[in-house]
Amino acid sequence: MRKPFVAGNWKMHGSKAMIASLINDLSRAWQQGDKVDVAVCPPFVYIDYVQRTLNNPAIKVGAQNMAAEPEYGAFTGEVSAPMLKEFDCRYVILGHSERRSLFGEDDDLIARKVEVALNARLTPILCVGETLEERDAGITEQVIERQLQAVIDRVGGDAFADIVVAYEPVWAIGTGKTASPEQAQAVHAFIRDKIRLLSAEAADDMIIQYGGSVKPGNAMELFSQPDIDGGLIGGASLVADDFLAICNAA
Ligand code: G3H
Repeated sequence: MRKPFVAGNWKMHGSKAMIASLINDLSRAWQQGDKVDVAVCPPFVYIDYVQRTLNNPAIKVGAQNMAAEPEYGAFTGEVSAPMLKEFDCRYVILGHSERRSLFGEDDDLIARKVEVALNARLTPILCVGETLEERDAGITEQVIERQLQAVIDRVGGDAFADIVVAYEPVWAIGTGKTASPEQAQAVHAFIRDKIRLLSAEAADDMIIQYGGSVKPGNAMELFSQPDIDGGLIGGASLVADDFLAICNAA
């Protein structure tokens, strides 16, 4: 049985005061660590502050992005995998649709980042998903396939046992529109089947999160689908009660 995993992607939100309150609330209240893995992914500058404020070993920390360069060097503004490791990050979100659409990250760059993360023993949370235009054009599976294939070409199918895939339909992110549980399940099954062609073991083990307007009111129904193993949560992860309710629904 796969252990569900819920991660909060804070995006570019937070302040020391807000984080102290949120992390204290989560640290106090989260007690289901044996049933569900939970992580929070703050902006880089707050990672250390979150680690020092956290008082609950069942809550892990991740980053929202990472350099494609493996070590250090003249890469102004970048943060490397070893730096994230030094600050006890367990996860790193890669290929989020906002990175793809707003910052020009392409499939090849994202695949290189996945490889660097795996080599550094960070667990990548690899985001894939189609835009509304792509869904309407009936090419959702082709888009997901292309995004996955770039990573498969670089690290192979077996590596997916150590990769979390987050299916995030772009049209559902921050819009209040969520994919129906059936729509999401269909894409999750497609992703798992694609990996199964390469490695049955990785397909069985891999965690596939759903992301896109997950709220306390829709989490349980989404997470009850057979191939949905938790969620990548944006807006609702900034409100302790909402995030806890979603974690408890997984
Ligand atoms: O990474 C998280 C997703 O972009 C979902 O964001 O829950 O605010 O729709 P959202």
